[in-house]
Amino acid sequence: MPKVHVFDHPLIQHKLTHIRDVNTGTKEFRELVDEVATLMAYEITRELPLMEVEVETPVKKANSKVLAGKKLGIIPILRAGIGMVDGILNLIPAARVGHIGLYRDPATLQPVEYYVKLPSDVSERELILVDPMLATGGSAIEAVNSLKKRGAKNIRFMCLIAAPEGVQAMTEAHPDVDIYIAALDEKLDEKGYIVPGLGDAGDRLFGTK
Ligand code: PRP
Ligand code: URA
Repeated sequence: MPKVHVFDHPLIQHKLTHIRDVNTGTKEFRELVDEVATLMAYEITRELPLMEVEVETPVKKANSKVLAGKKLGIIPILRAGIGMVDGILNLIPAARVGHIGLYRDPATLQPVEYYVKLPSDVSERELILVDPMLATGGSAIEAVNSLKKRGAKNIRFMCLIAAPEGVQAMTEAHPDVDIYIAALDEKLDEKGYIVPGLGDAGDRLFGTK
């Protein structure tokens, strides 16, 4: 079964509270999402493999460690996932970035795919799929379907806020995909919004309505 990891670092939780706040404007919202994405990237990269190298310090030669050069890919689900990309790239600048365009039909809540562009070697990369919200789970499930259809084998999903319904749907559909979240909220409302959530992530990031 997939693991669900909640990143409860105090800085992440503090910033998430301001992200949720209805009085937080677009500029600050965007900055906070960027900062939380960096902090979450720090946590999610904790297990990256290291290898030993020799380094010459001003004092003497020593054995020390560097990243073993695992190939990473960041895949934002458009639109709102874009808000998390730069924050992750701050820590892993060599990662490739692929995009999956999906929107949730407001009437059916079903995801509609409109764009896919991935690194050509997607099957060899360790992928971090990102989206601020896991609500019904439809978008994330479809994004993973889309990645697997194109050969991806190693996928993790990272989001800010998840609803229990989305976590359950995602773990049933893709038991091989671990989920990394900053908060697990109470439920979905009748329109498929996460309660208490943060509202519409895309609209708050980009100042649309
Ligand atoms: C939001 C969000 C997720 C999706 C989550 O995107 O960013 O992609 O809804 O809902 P689900 O788990 O029920 O599928 P939205 O469809 O509003 O598109 P946008 O990012 O373009 O605003
Ligand atoms: N998408 C959002 O942006 N917010 C929600 O609460 C649910 C889906």
